[in-house]
Amino acid sequence: MKKKLIAGNWKMNGSLTANDALVRALVTGGAGKGCLVAVCVPAPYLAQVQSLTAGTGIDLGAQDVSQHEVGAFTGEASSAMLRDFGVRYCLVGHSERRQYHGETDAAVAAKAQRALAAGITPVVCVGETLAEREAGLTEEVVKRQLAAVIHTNGHCISEIVVAYEPVWAIGTGKTASTEQAQQVHAVLRTQLRAATPHADKMHILYGGSMNAANAAQLLSQADIDGGLVGGAALKPADFLAIIAAAQ
Ligand code: PGA
Repeated sequence: MKKKLIAGNWKMNGSLTANDALVRALVTGGAGKGCLVAVCVPAPYLAQVQSLTAGTGIDLGAQDVSQHEVGAFTGEASSAMLRDFGVRYCLVGHSERRQYHGETDAAVAAKAQRALAAGITPVVCVGETLAEREAGLTEEVVKRQLAAVIHTNGHCISEIVVAYEPVWAIGTGKTASTEQAQQVHAVLRTQLRAATPHADKMHILYGGSMNAANAAQLLSQADIDGGLVGGAALKPADFLAIIAAAQ
């Protein structure tokens, strides 16, 4: 059976001291020994967390990557640079990037392509806003977002991870019900099956207020292969409990 993947998204949180304590607590708690575990850290801490996680089974992730290969793009980091620090996963198209940085579906698809070219697994985030859900547009929105990535990366689409994160559930304490989440995951799986014979081996993560209390039920659903965890990933006991629920 496919191992589940639990990825922490630290967002813009952390410090040298706090990261050290957090990663050491995760290692002591056995993270990385059962299911797949990754931490997606702010770029300045990649080197620190690379050395903290070396040999532990915890994989290193980044939170964004440039859609460009190299050159005059002040402030950006290329996929080759991330690769230099042993980055295994990279979030692309997180709703905060789409919302605050105007990332379009085309830009997200180009970022996924750059990551893949560098041997990094893009974790492609899709999800509807509350207004879109209330207007009955959930399926249309997530299918459009994923279709852009499939269109650009069709030949290696089985190498990506998909994360379904309803925007209204991120950081709000509101979680999609297991039925709501599973329903969208099934839609995404069907879309992937049309694009690749390997869709059933791929990971589709749920994200949005996943916590120690709701993880087991969400992770028991047929098409929920792991979690993308924000707030709870900063608390070792909570993140370890989610990991335990995944193994
Ligand atoms: P949350 O964030 O778990 O704090 O809701 C998830 C995410 O944004 O990836």
